[in-house]
Amino acid sequence: MASSIVNVPCNVQAIKGLDCQNYIGLRPSRNLKFNCVRTGTTARRPRLFVVRASEKNDGPVKKMGLSDEECEAAVVAGNVPKAPPVPRKPAAPVGTPVVPSLPLNRRPRRNRKSPVLRAAFQETQLSPANFVYPLFIHEGEEDTPIGAMPGCYRLGWRHGLVEEVGKARDVGVNSVVLFPKVPDALKSSAGDEAYNDNGLVPRAIRLLKDKYPDLVIYTDVALDPYSSDGHDGIVREDGVIMNDETVHQLCKQAVSQARAGADVVSPSDMMDGRIGAIREALDAEGFQHVSIMSYTAKYASSFYGPFREALDSNPRFGDKKTYQMNPANYREALVETHEDESEGADILLVKPGLPYLDIIRLLRDNSSLPIAAYQVSGEYSMIKAGGVLKMIDEEKVMMESLMCLRRAGADIILTYFALQAAKCLCGEKRI
Ligand code: PBG
Repeated sequence: MASSIVNVPCNVQAIKGLDCQNYIGLRPSRNLKFNCVRTGTTARRPRLFVVRASEKNDGPVKKMGLSDEECEAAVVAGNVPKAPPVPRKPAAPVGTPVVPSLPLNRRPRRNRKSPVLRAAFQETQLSPANFVYPLFIHEGEEDTPIGAMPGCYRLGWRHGLVEEVGKARDVGVNSVVLFPKVPDALKSSAGDEAYNDNGLVPRAIRLLKDKYPDLVIYTDVALDPYSSDGHDGIVREDGVIMNDETVHQLCKQAVSQARAGADVVSPSDMMDGRIGAIREALDAEGFQHVSIMSYTAKYASSFYGPFREALDSNPRFGDKKTYQMNPANYREALVETHEDESEGADILLVKPGLPYLDIIRLLRDNSSLPIAAYQVSGEYSMIKAGGVLKMIDEEKVMMESLMCLRRAGADIILTYFALQAAKCLCGEKRI
């Protein structure tokens, strides 16, 4: 009998606790002999190793002297072999009060007493496969640092973007979401550049798909990067964001992204009825296979500040409170959930992440669909800043916050930490 383990390089399945020292990995069994067969060595395909474990050559059982019967007879006769003594009870420090032990029949600490037990009973796992890596792109050749998001860049779509995606794939992150910085001259009140088939996003999708065909590309569907008003929808002269007219534009944008090769279109605009309309528009153009990740519960949050700086997409006037949700609201998230489910969303997203764990849990408990959490720019920047100021341990807080998003019920996490956290999960040293 032979079992096969197929090893595809970019599909890393790391499992690790919060504490980097407590890594529990898989070790190959010592008794198995592995035969390697190398296949698929053409230049562009990933190399594939098929490893077979065989039962041949397992070797004879080692002979150590006495037979089993002789050993048993020796013990029965009272000649018990030596073993290490029972360890001495460790001493408490001088001054420790002497008290009778509490009469507890349940001591939950018993299941936490060693790294092996803790790893065995860990309820939530975090893997690079759970991450979606948001990337900012621009028309330039260079990568421009984003001041408010240390470690993040506006990547040149032809070079920096392709390199960054390559690095992410090397550590098992094979999903990205693209956010464009659009030249001011291409912005307009109706945001028509959003559905230009030769615009920045469709070009970048085509390039990435050409280079990495199995990469999963999510796109942002909203007008704000293309709107001269910096709003997610078309603004009427009295300041009202026009719902149905905006949805018309979003449908064209989603179809244009699908045509370029997007796998998942993600409406982040919070207009009413856009999921059903986009589903219909995609299907009408033959894109039945393209998924929709709806920003179901997107709150009017101040945690988006650094992102808006990154894309220069601050609203020119007013705020986004007539379409994004009131941070004080909980039940309203269910209204949006039911709406998106019935309109055909494939994935439901909650945004921001950490301050909205209750909403993630609410959606998890009320829908069978996969749930996504967006750890937004402000959450990222706060952890970075705390780390730089040596107020917190950046890496540990990063890993803990991601684990907490998973524990609350998120299947996938959109996070600017995707590459850094995946490196940590893969056992690379601290940055
Ligand atoms: C806009 C959009 C925003 C983010 C993602 N898509 C900002 C906004 O609503 O103003 C924020 C992401 C982040 O802060 O990381 N369609």
